[in-house]
Order: sequence, then structure tokens, then C-alpha cells
Amino acid sequence: MSSTENMVFHVQPGGALKGTFRVPGDKSISHRSIMLGSLAEGVTHITGFLEGEDSLATLKAFRSLGVTIEGPEQGRVTIQGVGMHGLKAPQVSLDLGNSGTSMRLLSGLLAGQGLEITLVGDSSLSGRPMRRVTDPLSKMGAAVETTESGTAPLTIHPVNALKAIDYELPVASAQIKSCLLLAGLYAEGETRVTEPAPTRDHTERMLRGFGYSVQKQDSTISLKGGGKLTACDIDVPADISSAAFFLVGASIAPDSDIVLQHVGINPTRDGVITILKLMGADIEVMHRREVGGEPVADLRVRSAKLHGIDIPEEQVPLAIDEFPALFVAAVCAEGVTRLTGAEELRVKESDRIQVMADGLKALGADVTPTPDGIVIEGGVPLQTGRVNSHGDHRIAMAFAIAALRAQGEILIDDCSNVNTSFPGFTELASGAGLVISTSVEN
Ligand code: S3P
Repeated sequence: MSSTENMVFHVQPGGALKGTFRVPGDKSISHRSIMLGSLAEGVTHITGFLEGEDSLATLKAFRSLGVTIEGPEQGRVTIQGVGMHGLKAPQVSLDLGNSGTSMRLLSGLLAGQGLEITLVGDSSLSGRPMRRVTDPLSKMGAAVETTESGTAPLTIHPVNALKAIDYELPVASAQIKSCLLLAGLYAEGETRVTEPAPTRDHTERMLRGFGYSVQKQDSTISLKGGGKLTACDIDVPADISSAAFFLVGASIAPDSDIVLQHVGINPTRDGVITILKLMGADIEVMHRREVGGEPVADLRVRSAKLHGIDIPEEQVPLAIDEFPALFVAAVCAEGVTRLTGAEELRVKESDRIQVMADGLKALGADVTPTPDGIVIEGGVPLQTGRVNSHGDHRIAMAFAIAALRAQGEILIDDCSNVNTSFPGFTELASGAGLVISTSVEN
């Protein structure tokens, strides 16, 4: 499909979700497995790797940096680690597509390599704020250049050495934290990052899995530069952010009963379960286990009568990617749901507050966006209509599951980026009971 073509989802109203299935691998963990596996000494075997465009962009970037990587084949990837100082200057710019995680984490990981490297992205990624990483990196002595407006392309210039900093994150962002910890691997001294609220800790967990010492005291995470990583095997759990569409879908569609297998339920990612349960959802966390340092479970979800809530602000970073789906839950709930403290949603793959509000209004819902959140008056039935996802994967999938409770067909424009995080979404959703088809328009 060319970038000018429009992939349209056509979703028929009603239906129930049934069955037992596993959504694709966790995107955040997949990115990090390629990054750390490449820098490790020895061979890293990954299973459950997400074969979506975002994590594939990271994989291709490391191939361009001279790393031999086999796969992916049915989620299996083998990386011949090159060691901390084995990356080679790429012959081309590294194209990271739609992936903010690739760009922000790589800017840190590559800042101390002594190589000249340019990072580019698609139009959405090229509009997202990058000074949040380049400012602290320059305090470490890195030379990472942005455009005048603080966006990509990013050009990384070689520098002699990085020095550790003690940095307080101005926003609760795992991408900034991870960027600085990865740069800290190459810095002289101890890099310390303090977060205003807990954010996903996959980088810290995986660094430890690769044998690197990472300390955590209260909200400060620290590591010393100059160590090494030792290859290990990684089993990537199913992505709770992809499972979220089915957690909401099965909750709102009458007569639904599903089991989502092997879902990562890391406590820094489980806000969607907490929030849905506060709204009255029937979610059973079964067979809790630990896989490669990450908690995993099977999630049984049955339809439930949801009610509106004031979403606790401390849950926002723990559910940061799940709000498009949660807004759909709130529309189908009785009463008012209020979200505050979520201004970060405005700088995701799209402005998720505005784009969701526009689409939900087009379908007849009663929603009011605010600078840092939204107010949703639940219980107003969704009508037939056509909405635009603005190329944002999670918005496309959120509107697809909204059809389960709509009174007519929903058409969703600009859906090809669903492949960034959830390849096979339409097939898996159809198998579960959503009546969805696609067309391509010029
Ligand atoms: C991610 C962190 C989050 C999240 C993104 C993935 C990560 O971004 O929205 O999808 O893998 O570190 P922020 O850290 O900017 O909130």
C-alpha cells in the first residue's frame, strides 16, 4: 500500500466477543530486546517478538548498525550481540517510521557511540517533541541536533565522552527515563533519574536480566557507566496495550466471555485493568506467573454494566496508551467519566484527546475535551458514522471496538498504522466476533 492510499475499516454494529486467544507481543519489551541483545556479549534468543512495523523499525536500525539479526520468524529472533562498543556507523539514515520509542531510546543509546548517525521518522513522528530527550542528553555532553522546532530528524554527532547526570524528569515518561539510562551505560559516573510518578520499568528489568546492575531508591533509578551486558533468552509476553481493546470490547458487548492468554501485567502497565475494574468491569486475573522477570497472566473478561468514574490521576502513566479504548468504555458506561492530568495524550502518535473527541462526537457521543483530559457523559447510544483515526493505530482500533455498541456501521479512515503495533488485528478481532472488513481507497 502506498502512503497516499487510505486503508478504511468497515465495522458492523453489535455482536459479542468469545474465545481464548493471544494478542501479539509487547511493543515496549520487543524494542528493548533488540537494543540490549545487540549490545550484549553472546547470542540472544527472543520468542514472542512483536512483528509490527514499530519494533521492526528498531530491528532494521540495528542491522544498519552492523548487527547480525536472524528472523523474525513466528516471533523468533536471534541476535549475534556485538558488545557495548561493536556498533558500526550506518551508511544511511535510520528510518524509525512511526515509532517514538525507537527514536527516543536510540537517541540515548547512540549518543555515546562516537558515531555520526541521523534518525528520521514519518510525518507523525517528525512532529513530536524531541527536546525532552536532547536537552538532558546535552547536559551529559552529547551532541544531538534537532530541527529548529525541536523535532526529528535528529543528528547525533560523535563526542569524546559522556558524563553522568542527576536528572529530575519534568514529565512522567518511560521513554525519557530509558533514553537517559541507556546513555548512562556509556557515561563516566553514576546516572540518576528521578521520576515524578512511576512509569513502565521494562528497561530496568531487562538491564538486570542482561546482568547489569540497576539501583532503585524511592523514585530514583540509577546505574554506573562502563559495565557490560551478557546475552540471555527473552520471552516477550502479549501486549496489555493490544489486549486493552478486547478488555474493553468484551466488557461493553453483551454476552461476551473471552480469555486473553499470556498477557504482560507489569504493575507499571496495569492501569487499564484497575480503571476498568473501578468502572465495574468483570476481569479475572488467572494463573499469575513470572516470565523472564516480567509478570504475566491470563485475563478472563465477561460483559459487565459499567459506570462512570473520576479516573485517579496516579493511574494515568500506568494506562497512558490505553485511553482511546478507555474513552469508548466511558461512552458505554452509565454516568460521567472525568479524566484529568493527561496532557501527555496530546503529544502521542496523534493528539489523542482531540482526535478521540472529534470521532466520538461524530458518532453522537456527549464528550468535552479539556486541556489535560476529557469529560464523557456516558450512556448516549453511538450512531452510525465515519471517523478519522489520523493515522493513529490505537485510535483506529478503539473506534473498531466501539461498533460493538453502535446502532449502525462505523467507517474508520487512515487505518494502515494498525500494523505498527497490532499486525493481524482485523483477523483476530473477526475470529473473536467483531464484524470487520477493510477496503483501500485512493
Ligand atoms: C513507551 C513509553 C510511553 C508509551 C509508548 C511506549 C516505552 O511513552 O506511550 O507507547 O516503550 O517506553 P512516554 O514515555 O512518552 O509516556
